[in-house]
Amino acid sequence: MRIVIGGALGRMGQELASAAQAQGIQVACGVDVAYAGQPADFPMVAGYERVTQQADVLIDFSRPDALPEILAFCRSRRLPAVLCTTGYTDVELASIHKASQEIPLLRSANMSLGVHVLEQMMALACKVLGEGYDIEIVERHHRMKADSPSGTALMLYDTARREMGGGIKPVYGRYGRMEQRQPGDVGIHAVRGGSMTGEHEVGFYGEGEQLLLIHRAENRSLFAQGALKAGRFLAGKPAGLYSMRDVVAQMLA
Ligand SMILES: NC(=O)c1ccc[n+]([C@@H]2O[C@H](COP(=O)([O-])OP(=O)(O)OC[C@H]3O[C@@H](n4cnc5c(N)ncnc54)[C@H](O)[C@@H]3O)[C@@H](O)[C@H]2O)c1
Repeated sequence: MRIVIGGALGRMGQELASAAQAQGIQVACGVDVAYAGQPADFPMVAGYERVTQQADVLIDFSRPDALPEILAFCRSRRLPAVLCTTGYTDVELASIHKASQEIPLLRSANMSLGVHVLEQMMALACKVLGEGYDIEIVERHHRMKADSPSGTALMLYDTARREMGGGIKPVYGRYGRMEQRQPGDVGIHAVRGGSMTGEHEVGFYGEGEQLLLIHRAENRSLFAQGALKAGRFLAGKPAGLYSMRDVVAQMLA
């Protein structure tokens, strides 16, 4: 497999490049707006218009504002893309959806397989425990994280909404609220500090019992490994919008 890395000079881009090279995957080109001749052991450019190499898939860990260039590049090359960047707006998500009618795209706010197992356990808890339990989502990340709450926390909230069949609403923090918790509230809380990679906790609080499901990322390599798995899954697939759920489903099949 040959990959193009979006955001190649960033923390995740560098992690992905070393994970790929360790697996014998060729980094055909790295793209990063901050590129100004820094040494790299694969071709690097500052913009997609300068990529001349052939590749099988693009894997992006950059910033949401790179999206228009990525989609234009992938459409013109008929190149599948794994979109790992978080913090997309609804308009950007709609443009991903539209482009997926032409090319295979996989987007996930969390590339770790463990988080997707957590998601399935959460879906089970929503079904069984249901409305009698209060759900709270707490995420913790390093001080450099730009978006909050994390894309994964929002993904977990969406899972709850899907499993509960509506009737719930997100409550982001509780500053200024002078009222008790309302039925159907799902608290979403973001903690930022230090260097911790990332933690997601989903709590089900009932009368007389609590169920806490926690996923802790200890380093970034698991996201790189997951992104490469997603890249392998996507190369050769028909146009469409895929997620890590599809990768997990293929593993279970
Ligand atoms: N889906 C996941 O599992 C997962 C895991 C970790 C991080 N992330 C997300 O990946 C993104 C990057 O994270 P990071 O920690 O590596 O950040 P980072 O700030 O270390 O790196 C981002 C890189 O992208 C580059 N960049 C910015 N705009 C660009 C553009 N228009 N074109 C090309 N490159 C551009 C920057 O110069 C920088 O080198 C964030 O959105 C983060 O939340 C997702």
